[in-house]
Amino acid sequence: MQDIIRKIKELKSQKNALLLAHNYQDIEIQDLADYRGDSLQLAMLSAQLKSPLIIFCGVQFMAETAAIINPHSKVILPVKDAGCPMADMIDSAQLREFKKIYPNSSVVCYVNSTVEVKAESDICCTSSNAVQVLQSIPEDKTILFVPDRNLGNWAAKQSGRKVITWDGFCPTHQWGFSPEDISKLRKKYPHHTLLAHPECDPAIVEQADEVMSTGGMMKYVEANDNVIIATENGMTNYLKHIYPQKSIISLSPKAVCPNMRKTHLQDVLTALENEQHEIIVDEEIARRAKISIDRMLELS
Ligand code: 13P
Ligand code: SF4
Repeated sequence: MQDIIRKIKELKSQKNALLLAHNYQDIEIQDLADYRGDSLQLAMLSAQLKSPLIIFCGVQFMAETAAIINPHSKVILPVKDAGCPMADMIDSAQLREFKKIYPNSSVVCYVNSTVEVKAESDICCTSSNAVQVLQSIPEDKTILFVPDRNLGNWAAKQSGRKVITWDGFCPTHQWGFSPEDISKLRKKYPHHTLLAHPECDPAIVEQADEVMSTGGMMKYVEANDNVIIATENGMTNYLKHIYPQKSIISLSPKAVCPNMRKTHLQDVLTALENEQHEIIVDEEIARRAKISIDRMLELS
């Protein structure tokens, strides 16, 4: 492993490349990354980077967003099939049909979506700005929210706006936790704060003390010692690694995103060596998707 790490560092500096990692990535990858963050933080950062080569350790929609907002950099996703099943729960044809049913509507699209769906939407959001994005939509518009029903319904409650959601969800957050996990851990750790990601089922979110993005969790744990975390376990593993003295408990060992687990150090090295799996987006689709992403970034 030390040999791979040394080669990655050498190639990164030779090629003036940057390594970006989502908060769910493996510890070794996050430790090596130039930047870590949640979807919004990484998107905002990508817009400013000047590096000719970005190795994006995360999943397809994240690397695609970076490529769309930073057309000057070559963006590589080290593992070609690291996708997001929620993003594939709606396609552009389905969204066009959905819009036909509600002609005076604005479409808010979670960034966990395909580039074609972003191109058909009015504005994007992430888990850290969904409430703010909903509040920005003119009152006379019907709001359609795709693809995540859980984030859409939670953000609707928080913002006081009425929202019609697509029936998509994240399998990891939907099925990873149960109310029984909460009662068990609340009994064991009565003074811990339960932090939940808004992609979780309402039965989990309603019992959480705080609901936030992975970037929000990172900040919360920086300032607090005793937490139970309801999100993908890569996040919990990394938090435990950087704060070994704190009590950081995962709500359930079942909450694993198989796609986030696909990228290993060897893949990062191969990506740097061969520069394969570059994200290429059709120019016209990218132009339209960028309008939705830019609107979100302007609000953030
Ligand atoms: P964050 O934007 O909170 O990092 O969430 C991304 C994601 O894919 C959650 O499953
Ligand atoms: Fe997609 Fe869920 Fe994995 Fe996040 S955790 S990338 S929403 S499948």
